[in-house]
Amino acid sequence: SAAEKGGYDYFMLKEIAEQPKAVADTLLGRIDGSGTLSLDEVRIPTRVLREVDKVVIVACGTAFHAGLIAKYAIEHWTRIPCEVELASEFRYRDPILDQRTLVVAISQSGETMDTLMALRHAREQGAKVLAICNTNGSTIPRESDAVLYTHAGPEVAVASTKAFLTQLVACYLVALYLGQVRGTKYGDEIRDVVRDLSRIAGAVEQVLGTMEPVRELARSLAHKNTVLFLGRHVGYPVALEGALKLKELAYMHAEGFAAGELKHGPIALIEEDLPVVVVVPSPRGRSVLHDKIVSNIQEIRARGARTIVIAEEGDEAVVPYADHLVRIPATPTLLQPLVATVPLQVFACELATARGNEVDQPRNLAKSVTVE
Ligand code: G6P
Repeated sequence: SAAEKGGYDYFMLKEIAEQPKAVADTLLGRIDGSGTLSLDEVRIPTRVLREVDKVVIVACGTAFHAGLIAKYAIEHWTRIPCEVELASEFRYRDPILDQRTLVVAISQSGETMDTLMALRHAREQGAKVLAICNTNGSTIPRESDAVLYTHAGPEVAVASTKAFLTQLVACYLVALYLGQVRGTKYGDEIRDVVRDLSRIAGAVEQVLGTMEPVRELARSLAHKNTVLFLGRHVGYPVALEGALKLKELAYMHAEGFAAGELKHGPIALIEEDLPVVVVVPSPRGRSVLHDKIVSNIQEIRARGARTIVIAEEGDEAVVPYADHLVRIPATPTLLQPLVATVPLQVFACELATARGNEVDQPRNLAKSVTVE
């Protein structure tokens, strides 16, 4: 009913709008005023966490994209090697697991069969399993050694939005917590990240307030057949997520690529007026990546692409090459997905509406896939 949708036409729109609160709720009570994480709910003894020599993340769909981003954070902040694998591939290749492996299973519903089978397999091999889950008491947390709940509230729309942002928050918390219990050298960078994480809900809110041009752009592209997405570093999984949203909702051919791979194939796809969304890393921090992606944008534009550029406020280098420019607030590099994903969700949702598709219940998809 309209009341259930809180006045929005679709659950998806409501859930996109709820993201600042979902993010804030997922952080609530987990970082104290001095920037120390308290995750007592993660009932894996710190003695065990100190011994972990490998992290393996398993998930499906949008949750898998959260896992891809988590890998950057975990390896950078903890120096523990981290693999990310689609749950449906994981157990069929005889993965190397033992008592010192921490498996992180990410699932909104907690009922995805592929993810469940992957974690059962991991536990049989002696690995410890930590679930990141949005549904209290669901199967995946019940069968795991520990759980860190995301506090997105119920997600009804099939295409995941607020659950994804809270999965990212939970992944950052796990990465920072692992760093904390293992006594990783906390540089200024980590202190900044913890501070910026506690402010990130406001940044998401800010993005939501500037989405009208994105909706307009989406409507103008409703007749297109293909949209490509490019990103680097954590922007690469964001590009994959943007493409997934477009497939799920708009039923369009959409692909995400690592921008550095452009020259190894995808650039052959560029043709006159092809929309290409580019997620640009911050010009601060890893500025080498920024400069490289700016030259990628130049290259594809010279070949006729219509460039849709998602870039930090104040990034002037992209301006000459952007047919459409979407501004996002400055964040530390690793946190950028929390703000960069939002315009892609809005874009896909509006394109679906413009194409007359059912937003909350896309054809052929289920909210939770409980068969293998
Ligand atoms: C289905 C949904 C996706 C979701 C995936 C994983 O395919 O349509 O939106 O990302 O399952 O679901 P989970 O509940 O495990 O996060």
